[in-house]
Amino acid sequence: MSTATPPSTTSTFQLNGQSISVTASPDTPLLWIIRDVAGLTGTKFGCGIGLCGACTVHLGRRAVRSCITPLSAVAGAQITTIEGLSADGQHPLQKAWVQTQAPQCGYCQSGQIMQAAALIRRFPKPSDEDIDSVMNGNLCRCMAYVRIRQAIKIAAAEIQGAASHG
Ligand code: FES
Ligand code: FES
Repeated sequence: MSTATPPSTTSTFQLNGQSISVTASPDTPLLWIIRDVAGLTGTKFGCGIGLCGACTVHLGRRAVRSCITPLSAVAGAQITTIEGLSADGQHPLQKAWVQTQAPQCGYCQSGQIMQAAALIRRFPKPSDEDIDSVMNGNLCRCMAYVRIRQAIKIAAAEIQGAASHG
């Protein structure tokens, strides 16, 4: 069996609204492009095998695990990380996270917020069951799940209120 690394290719995509071109092996995980090439360290490495959610970013409007998303899968795509969720850190989820003091150590939290942002698009008024079904792959070793659920509901209500007023 060959273990040769595929030859480098150049891929261009949008990262938080800015065009970025990266020359690397096409199987390079997006997580390492985000952290080591772009220098955006809000997206975390947890397990590296798609099982914890610490590395969650958006590919278009979908939440994906950047540790198992190869560079070859993002050519021409829009990628959003926690740094690009809002221009000023005032996304309703970010405000609700502060209000509820959701994090403990904080390590899992950017992934939690990015997963929650995708959740609220899909379920504008999420029930506990909706939240559990979408968030259950985002692990928190500090067991902040109750506050995370509370913060998601606060943010969803703010987004709903803004939509109905405007
Ligand atoms: S680091 Fe990607 S899912 Fe755990
Ligand atoms: S806040 Fe520590 S792992 Fe989630």
